[in-house]
Amino acid sequence: MRVALVTGGARGIGAALCERLVADGMHVAVNYRSDAASAESLVDRLCSAGGQAVALRADVCDPEQAQHLVRATAEHFGVGATVLVNNVGEFTLSPVAATSARRWDSIMDSNLNSTFYVTRAVLPTMRERRYGRVVNLGLSPTVLVRGAPNIAAYAVAKTGVAVLTRSLAAEEARHGITVNCVAPGLIDNGHLPPEQAAWMARRVPAGRLGTGRDIAEAVAFLVSDRADYVSGTTLTVSGGWDWEDRTVAHDGEVTELFEDEAANV
Ligand SMILES: NC(=O)c1ccc[n+]([C@@H]2O[C@H](COP(=O)([O-])OP(=O)(O)OC[C@H]3O[C@@H](n4cnc5c(N)ncnc54)[C@H](OP(=O)(O)O)[C@@H]3O)[C@@H](O)[C@H]2O)c1
Repeated sequence: MRVALVTGGARGIGAALCERLVADGMHVAVNYRSDAASAESLVDRLCSAGGQAVALRADVCDPEQAQHLVRATAEHFGVGATVLVNNVGEFTLSPVAATSARRWDSIMDSNLNSTFYVTRAVLPTMRERRYGRVVNLGLSPTVLVRGAPNIAAYAVAKTGVAVLTRSLAAEEARHGITVNCVAPGLIDNGHLPPEQAAWMARRVPAGRLGTGRDIAEAVAFLVSDRADYVSGTTLTVSGGWDWEDRTVAHDGEVTELFEDEAANV
């Protein structure tokens, strides 16, 4: 039996990840912070289709709650998680000058610190089982380290996630644990206003926004036996779109992506 823990799994990309991992036969802990209704309704759907899933509340930005979440997962299924997807990661679009200290900290907590807290908590079980799969939700390698206008906080946090991923991959390989990143491009996470979704889709070379299912396919590969020897890498899933190409539009229209939005911050 393989137990998977997906942080922020109740909706958006996280929900698609849970669906896919259950379809692959895993027992899945769906973590949520406040939206119990979405988490419970996802779990009901997964279980009525014959899967095994449980909704577990925890704010993964809190190290004690992260630790408790990992324990609660093991208590529920009787076996600890050997697959972890660190999906929580708040996005922000804001010039540095307009970013408050509180906002900066919350982006670091949500993207980087939560990943550290939950991963550290699952490692003992993975080491004991001499098997583990950690997948972190990251950001395109072209924007990591280098940065880009209006996403400094997010890019700094996701750069930290990339560093954590590569360091852990090297540290944990001898314990049978792989650690990788999936970097989504422009994804419809279910709460984009339709005009904004259409505007963004026109900027993707593939001609559409990505879906949670696109991301789930990449994660499913990285946690499968086919990826036994893949560790420390980032798999970009973006339909050919990248931050560097943000002036190239699918329909030929040239617009600096996010520039006009950030001007309103
Ligand atoms: N969407 C994109 O285009 C895109 C692009 C690049 C990277 N990504 C990355 O992909 C990941 C998922 O993105 P998304 O757009 O699907 O996110 P989302 O729709 O904003 O979903 C976030 C989920 O995480 C939960 N959550 C937030 N903070 C939490 C916390 N502290 N503890 C526990 N749960 C928490 C939320 O639950 P509650 O509602 O209960 O708080 C919600 O279910 C993120 O890491 C993001 O940075 C997304």
